[in-house]
Amino acid sequence: MITLVPIAAVAASDIEHLLDLAFGTDRHGRTAYRLREGVDALPDLSLAALENGELVGSIQCWPIQLTETDGDPAPLILVGPVAVEPGRQRAGIGRMLMDAALARADAADSAPMMLIGDASYYERFFDFSSRHTRGWAVPGPVERDRLLARLRPGQVVPRQGVLGPRIAALVPGGD
Ligand SMILES: CC(C)(COP(=O)(O)OP(=O)(O)OC[C@H]1O[C@@H](n2cnc3c(N)ncnc32)[C@H](O)[C@@H]1OP(=O)(O)O)[C@@H](O)C(=O)NCCC(=O)NCCS
Repeated sequence: MITLVPIAAVAASDIEHLLDLAFGTDRHGRTAYRLREGVDALPDLSLAALENGELVGSIQCWPIQLTETDGDPAPLILVGPVAVEPGRQRAGIGRMLMDAALARADAADSAPMMLIGDASYYERFFDFSSRHTRGWAVPGPVERDRLLARLRPGQVVPRQGVLGPRIAALVPGGD
């Protein structure tokens, strides 16, 4: 049976090991890491999946922003990495982690969520789409069809802007 716990309940070194297994040890150069440089993960939206007490998956979310050309920052939440231990992939654990984080974000009426990932997974199951992000500038290389955002009904995001960390974010839930 899988249980979800706050990520802080698991040793940081165990999470790092899981991420190395899922993404490789060269993962730190990825553009997503630059988006959240200098900020802490949002504790309410960052979870670990345990199976019989063993770590099998994790999700982290981060406060970032899209700075418009006039300088106004629009808050966003960066989702990821989402990782499942290679031997336990495709058993629903990734979806469980995503569903839990999205449900918590929705319940807290959080800022819109974005990520860099496979549309064939994140659009298919979680309603993320690259159509919201076409005018966004990113501090690093990115495949545009992997730059995805998810808006709840009524939410809007600026069409243009530059993505970066939201250094001053202090409020739990990311708003
Ligand atoms: C991507 C990841 C988080 C998904 O979690 P998971 O627990 O393995 O997947 P789930 O059980 O939730 O979902 C399974 C479904 O998603 C599909 N799926 C899984 N990973 C996918 C991917 N990268 N792209 C497209 N579809 C994917 C499976 O085919 C399956 O579909 P089906 O039900 O029609 O057979 C996990 O596989 C992982 O950590 N992978 C390594 C990191 C990685 O490659 N990430 C790429 C995305 S950024």
